[in-house]
Amino acid sequence: MGISEYFYKKMLAMLDESEPPPLQGKPLGKGDSFMTFAVFGDPQVSNYMFARENSFYSACKDIARCEGIDALVIVGDIVENGMKCEFRTVARMLTEISGKVDRFFLVPGNHDIRFRPFKAQLKRFREFAASTKNAVVPDEGRYWHSFDYPCCRFIMMGADRSKIEASYISPAQLAWLDHEISKAESENKPAFVFNHQTLKKHNGLPMTWLGRGKWRGSIGMQSDAVKKVFEKHNNVIFITGHLHWGVNEYTYEDYGSYKAIAAPTIGAGNHGTFNPDVQGLVFSVYEDKIVMRARLFGERKFVDAAHPNGEVEIKIK
Ligand SMILES: [Fe+2]
Repeated sequence: MGISEYFYKKMLAMLDESEPPPLQGKPLGKGDSFMTFAVFGDPQVSNYMFARENSFYSACKDIARCEGIDALVIVGDIVENGMKCEFRTVARMLTEISGKVDRFFLVPGNHDIRFRPFKAQLKRFREFAASTKNAVVPDEGRYWHSFDYPCCRFIMMGADRSKIEASYISPAQLAWLDHEISKAESENKPAFVFNHQTLKKHNGLPMTWLGRGKWRGSIGMQSDAVKKVFEKHNNVIFITGHLHWGVNEYTYEDYGSYKAIAAPTIGAGNHGTFNPDVQGLVFSVYEDKIVMRARLFGERKFVDAAHPNGEVEIKIK
């Protein structure tokens, strides 16, 4: 047994023995909605920062103790350094709760794919998805893929080149994105588009990236092209991570044809005055609306509905 294996088993044993925090307020579950799914970003599970594993595992445990969670989407920076051992830890924890979650959607972030040749890391990422029970594996050769639910369409974007911080979106992916959203629109379904980075000047940028530069914190050079695609359509719900801000006034922004939503992190620490470590979002889809609720997964409770963007109702047009 290697050292990391030893600590992993030790940590799981400790967490399993510890008393979970009591469930507070409304339960997490589907209720009377068509479907309910959880989203968080940036667990950045690391081979040397073990507190992140702990936070990630506590979020998984919260989800596992609930009924009726159809999907969990992790919007990138799933691990810190794109290492096999880091992906293996995440795969094991997700597989452990696979009896309670029908599908996992794994969106790549800059931390997952940078520092290695693009194709080699894509292969590693696909192997990670394939080793996670209930994870949807992207087709060979690209990160981007989609999944059709009866009430909505999931569209997972992903970079087409390795970049340190931004995300290169190729013309082929832009055309595919347009096509996928059109398909949802033709069936009168909302399109949930997931990507690691948000658009330029969205979700509080540049302030939410410490005010640095015109594009930093966003997709980067292709940001305007992605925005143009969204503006052609309706009922596009664009959900991203990367910013590491606790739920605040920038979490949800309504741009008419599309909504920009920045999910907080459950692992790598949240900026801002509302900064518990293990925050995420829960979406319930109804016939004519989507309800977004912020959740403190580590504390097993929803954020107060009166908190800025603690609870948001999005009308489906
Ligand atoms: Fe990131």
